[in-house]
Amino acid sequence: MELSNYVKGKKIIFGITGGIAAYKAANCVSALRRAGAEVYVVMTKNAIEFITPITMKTLSEHNVITDMFSDEGYVTHISLTEIADLFIVAPATANCIAKLRAGIADDMLSTMLLAYNKEILLVPSMNDNMFNNPATVENIQVLSNRNINFVFPETGKLATGKVGKGRFPEIDKILLKIVELIFIKPLINSISNNKFDIFKDIISKNSFLVTAGATREYIDPVRYISNGSSGKMGFGFMNAITSLGGNLKVITANYTDTRIDWFSPIKVGTTLELKDRLMENLNNIDWLIMAAAPSDYRIKESYDSKIKKTSEELNLTFIKNPDILQEIRKNNKQLNILGFAAETDELEKNGKEKLEKKKLNAICLNKVYKDEKGFNQDKNEIIFINKENFITKIELIDKEIVAYLVLYYLFKDKIG
Ligand code: PMT
Repeated sequence: MELSNYVKGKKIIFGITGGIAAYKAANCVSALRRAGAEVYVVMTKNAIEFITPITMKTLSEHNVITDMFSDEGYVTHISLTEIADLFIVAPATANCIAKLRAGIADDMLSTMLLAYNKEILLVPSMNDNMFNNPATVENIQVLSNRNINFVFPETGKLATGKVGKGRFPEIDKILLKIVELIFIKPLINSISNNKFDIFKDIISKNSFLVTAGATREYIDPVRYISNGSSGKMGFGFMNAITSLGGNLKVITANYTDTRIDWFSPIKVGTTLELKDRLMENLNNIDWLIMAAAPSDYRIKESYDSKIKKTSEELNLTFIKNPDILQEIRKNNKQLNILGFAAETDELEKNGKEKLEKKKLNAICLNKVYKDEKGFNQDKNEIIFINKENFITKIELIDKEIVAYLVLYYLFKDKIG
């Protein structure tokens, strides 16, 4: 994703509090600045024990605010909070979260947070016992109910060497959330009459199973037929669903977009394996999103050992793989299914046929050529059609954005 397309020229207040992950804020500020955002860093007294203001000044290209009573600090807490598009605190300590919940303003950062009335994004990072402490759990719950946004910590090795939930998340996750708050939320509000929050609430009450990637059909132990699916389109859905609070299960064939690993996918190789794993994992799923590109054919008799290049010609016989969506539909009449159609021509005609034949709730038609859309590309252009024959076009844009828009159109009638 080209971050600058979404954050260039935006004003972001970047708060840093005193945790060992404070140094990771540097990469985040640097990425935002490189993408053309104006970043104003505010650090607590404890934060400057972990990373120096001069580092943050160099990266952000603005003076860093640390002091409540400097002339600059006094004026800034009012003026910056009025003009900023987003206020992020990363890392946000348990103390910072507790103060915001209680409305305490006893230093520059907490004062500015209280004076700010637009989007706030907190990235908690701390010791796992502190994160799981009922006080922190309750504080986060209360702040979520007040529409404060979070990117939650990951499970991994903490500063003490112990493994637990509290680790600062991947920078890319934070940047994607920033894009959601700065670009996607206003976009969806503009097409939905300000119903983003209802949309988010509906997604958070649904369970999704997303597939992605290319299956492989082996000819011999080292050769296979496959396609160029990278998993990027599927990743877009995984990110959007989890960011909006939806329940997510992931089954993937082969992919090159390693961000899919964030979601601990169930991995498969062939189309038959994909079908079997899907059948086993449909319990309690409301929506199946089938962005994977399974092979329609497999080798009739694959070789047990590597084929030798002795003959001038090699003939292979293929047999048809089952149509997974059709098989699933037979025994899952209530399941909602979003299918995809990868077509090189007659997009709408072929897509509509697939929608009916596979008895889908909706389908995304994408033209697949060797250009900047379709397989293994960052962007996609989609025609969305549902079974009620609502048709809309999503113009060429990053797949992460396409996914939010498709989800919006899936639930458009429920959102109202
Ligand atoms: O992964 P990316 O690089 O980001 O590329 C994204 C994508 C182009 C792969 C994706 O947007 C896409 O179009 N996925 C579906 C590709 C495909 O298999 O299309 P199809 O028209 O052949 O199949 C139609 C639908 O039936 C699809 O939802 C497919 O998952 C499903 N199918 C296909 C074959 C099969 N044997 N069983 C199926 O259920």
